Amino acid sequence: MRILLVHGPNLSQLGTRDPAVYGTATLDDVVEAARSEAAAAGAQLEHVQTEHEGELVARLHAARTDGTDAVIVNAGAWTHYSYAVRDALELLEVPKVELHLSNIHAREEFRARSVLAAVCDGSIVGLGIAGYPLAVRAVCSLVAERGG
Ligand code: DQA
Repeated sequence: MRILLVHGPNLSQLGTRDPAVYGTATLDDVVEAARSEAAAAGAQLEHVQTEHEGELVARLHAARTDGTDAVIVNAGAWTHYSYAVRDALELLEVPKVELHLSNIHAREEFRARSVLAAVCDGSIVGLGIAGYPLAVRAVCSLVAERGG
């Protein structure tokens, strides 16, 4: 079982980026939280973070044929307006979970809308670093449900 975890722009700055909103965990910390849950479930986790939209789109395209079994996506601000990321996710037939550290529904109005939500199986928002192992468990059970 291979899980792809992708992060979009500015998430490289976790730890020092607005800790009141995002907490003090670094990107390495949240990836490690996901990786150890994946290992406990007997799954492998690959992580990609990029500040470049096309790079994320290309990685999602590759996931169509490289043996990826599930995707967890925190697309940062692209969540709210990137139809390119949306379309790339839509092409992927494996289970997909959208993830956000902060509660996007309790912040600025523009964050309440996700253009990715409708092409993902579900979303986990507002739980900080605790959302990462939950997202891993969610994709593992979705893969199992689909006979994976
Ligand atoms: C975020 C929420 C987005 O609105 C924001 O642009 C981010 C982080 C989150 O994890 O809470 O970069 O995706």
